[in-house]
Amino acid sequence: MAEAQIGLIGLGTMGAALALNIAEHGFDIAVWNRTASRTVDFMTEAGALAARVTPTEALADFVAALETPRAIILMVPAGAPVDEQIAALRPLLAPGDLIIDGGNANFHDTNARAAAAGDLLYLGLGVSGGEEGARFGPSMMAGGSQAAWDRAAPILRAIAARYDGTPCADFFGEGGAGHFVKTVHNGIEYADMQLIAEAYGILRDGMGQGTDAIAGTFQRWNSGALESYLTEITAAVAAAQDPVTGGPVLEVIVDAAGQKGTGRWTAIEAQHLASAVPVIEAAVTARNLSAQRDRRAGLEALFGAAPSHLTTISRDQIEGALIAGKVLCYTQGFEMLGAASRAHGWDTDLSAVARVWRAGCIIRSAMLGDMAEALMTAPGALLIEAPVFADHLRENHASLRHVVAEAARHGIAVPALSAALAYFDAMRTARGTANMIQGQRDYFGRHGFVRLDTGAEDQHGPWAD
Ligand code: 6PG
Repeated sequence: MAEAQIGLIGLGTMGAALALNIAEHGFDIAVWNRTASRTVDFMTEAGALAARVTPTEALADFVAALETPRAIILMVPAGAPVDEQIAALRPLLAPGDLIIDGGNANFHDTNARAAAAGDLLYLGLGVSGGEEGARFGPSMMAGGSQAAWDRAAPILRAIAARYDGTPCADFFGEGGAGHFVKTVHNGIEYADMQLIAEAYGILRDGMGQGTDAIAGTFQRWNSGALESYLTEITAAVAAAQDPVTGGPVLEVIVDAAGQKGTGRWTAIEAQHLASAVPVIEAAVTARNLSAQRDRRAGLEALFGAAPSHLTTISRDQIEGALIAGKVLCYTQGFEMLGAASRAHGWDTDLSAVARVWRAGCIIRSAMLGDMAEALMTAPGALLIEAPVFADHLRENHASLRHVVAEAARHGIAVPALSAALAYFDAMRTARGTANMIQGQRDYFGRHGFVRLDTGAEDQHGPWAD
């Protein structure tokens, strides 16, 4: 067999799917997995594609099977396993060889690994789309050196999802820029999912709808402004029947959300950047609260359950609230990406990020096309300042307000929708209330304030005497 053009380490769900995708696109690939039996199973699963795959048992054989300069994708769990794998590879590699980390790495780790790469090339690659995406076309967000991207791009573009023929894979800046974009993708993913879960909660608890009706509602919404992968799978999840009980599968799923941490990283990094992403933060907090099941049950017994039968909300108003919430959430996510790009000197093209998210990834949606357009037309502007999204808000902020207010009156928790509304109200208020904060700070700590009338800085109030 000819030397492989690329190597892949880690034949877990995502790694195996990506390896088959690469082989299917005509590239010869060598693979290696720590547990050799997994490689044997993988070769059986590969079927006809096995002809393009070189399975290897020893790491040295894997490296020797690659054409030089080598390109190796790591699909191992984020964290220490990546460092261990790089350390094991290093003595076997030569200057100019390329390592691509395709896991969900923390961008700080990727920054450090890229800086320590020395004479190797290093690419931190965010890969989105789950197993199906990896197999048939993921969305990919790269960061590292330009030379690393230039080497990897032909293969990555070939295997990526396509939107109108354009591959959903791009380079967003040095070091951890790609993994940072993936992290924010996941923060938005958490927020999108939480907004949907809140709409589901109002339909279920406030309007007493069954899962079939809920599935129908999401199906209908999926043909409007909310058209997206997440809306589509929400309808499918609501409609699914449990083979054991014969009833809706949703009714047998424990209401405690898991999380591997990328949404939380978004919230943490937003604070480091002093960037406002309250909808994402609310979504992370909601997952944390969801885990406290026993305590929630105890408090329901103590205070009573929220009354149901909320007749004052229409399905159209919930749809409107979701549209407004989604637009506000993405506004925050892109603003955070811009802040990070400035802080780290990445020069990330936000419009290109939106383009890469249009297909293949979990948050792909019809709206992302308009977002790409808006961010290209007016770079640096907030998404809600673009005419198309300003229109969405003009049309739907009253619904958002109504849904949040009615949910609050009836005791239904809607933290992400509430956060979206509070953000909108704060951002469209020219004269805010932080003059009081500044007054207080100056009163107790002589921190000084800026005068509104003269612009004079470091002023003090009469309490200074
Ligand atoms: C993707 C997803 C994926 C993520 C899962 C689970 O883009 O394909 O974001 O990378 O790992 O969605 O994430 P949580 O366990 O944190 O929910």
